[in-house]
Amino acid sequence: MPFQAPRGTFDILPDEEEIWNKVQQACFETARLFGYRYIETPVFEESGLFQRTVGENTDIVEKEMYSFDDKGGENISLRPENTAGVCRAFIENGLHNTTLPSRLFYYGPMFRYERPQSGRYRQFHQFGIECIGEASPDVDYEVIKIAWDVLKILDFGNVVLNVNSLGDSQDRYLYSEELKKYYSKYLNDLPRVDQLRFERSPLRILDSKEDITIKISEDAPKTLDFISTESSIHHENLILNLDQLSSIDKEFKYKINHRLVRGLDYYNKTVFEYTSDSLGPQGVLLGGGRYDPLIKILGGQDTPAVGFAMGIERAVNELKKNIDIEKNYVDAVLIVTNDDLRIQSAQIANNLRNHKIRTIIAPRKSIKAQMRFANNINSKCAVFIGHDELEANKLSIKLLQEKSEQIDIDLNDISQFKKILSS
Ligand code: HAM
Repeated sequence: MPFQAPRGTFDILPDEEEIWNKVQQACFETARLFGYRYIETPVFEESGLFQRTVGENTDIVEKEMYSFDDKGGENISLRPENTAGVCRAFIENGLHNTTLPSRLFYYGPMFRYERPQSGRYRQFHQFGIECIGEASPDVDYEVIKIAWDVLKILDFGNVVLNVNSLGDSQDRYLYSEELKKYYSKYLNDLPRVDQLRFERSPLRILDSKEDITIKISEDAPKTLDFISTESSIHHENLILNLDQLSSIDKEFKYKINHRLVRGLDYYNKTVFEYTSDSLGPQGVLLGGGRYDPLIKILGGQDTPAVGFAMGIERAVNELKKNIDIEKNYVDAVLIVTNDDLRIQSAQIANNLRNHKIRTIIAPRKSIKAQMRFANNINSKCAVFIGHDELEANKLSIKLLQEKSEQIDIDLNDISQFKKILSS
């Protein structure tokens, strides 16, 4: 084959549209129920935006960005995530002058040059929520609950919320030092990739996928033992809300995961992920957390914020296992019995479409072949258009998915046609 989709990308084919729509609808409807409003930012931004926010030493910025100099010499990156873009837009458009918090949601493609594997793509889609301008743990709970409601609508079984607190930047510094002390005892046992992390970002070692590191990390110090009183109270408040949710919704399960640090630099206090066993090693359906310092880092006013993003492909792949794809996408195929009636058939087709009847005109072939076509595309009915029918001002309809007689209807009474289709 001369050309193929680039590695780590894929096509969304017509049969899959329904599942994608279902996921998108669940996301949009839930976000709107919580008073969130849609925002869309460009798919590319100045590279510096991501270096400043996601972090220079993160895998995303170090290895995974699609970056290039544009024709004007500006260094541009395809967005690897959208929190940075939304915060840039928040500052640039003066949203801090509106009633806060700004409750925003987005949906669209992201790009990361990752090693493709199950559930990991180079172009993928995220639905995300950002609540900007409120420091209270109540909104941490709110975004976690939005995510839970979306997952419930989509009928995800076996989902667990993992939650942790990273404290504030001072707590993080103390904690990093403590981690270094701990891992220095095992430095020679750590794989090369984690030895490199030891100097540059020891927190990332906790996130390692290497078996030996996971084992060593079991007894590592816990963030919760190092966070400030303020961060502790924030965390406990969130936990009270989660306990309350568990008591009223038996399906909701959460655990405090001391190794959860997330792979982006901008988080403080609450971090969380929803995981599902059925997704295997890439089991993270969505992740997020609080990122209070970020807007100030970008030159805006000090504005606390919290949010999450969900990987749409991971949700779609799960749903595909359980959904029967709707094959019926056409109501009527016009079988044109004489070629000199093609122009009139086009007008009839348009009239039917004006009445929301999904209509295709069969190709210029024999009547038998036109009928085969109508059957092959699972049309609900075939509509015969011949000289006799037109002279009598009639359409002759045959339902295809059940054995039926031909039914004649008045060409000017399309409502009768609609009744037959819905019967
Ligand atoms: P993230 O954890 O990098 O967070 O990505 C969120 C979700 O996007 C992941 O849990 C996963 O479902 C999906 N995802 C990430 N990379 C890939 C990939 N290569 N292929 C398929 N799916 C992927 C963020 O992006 C943050 N901006 C989330 C956030 C919003 N935090 C606060 N607000």
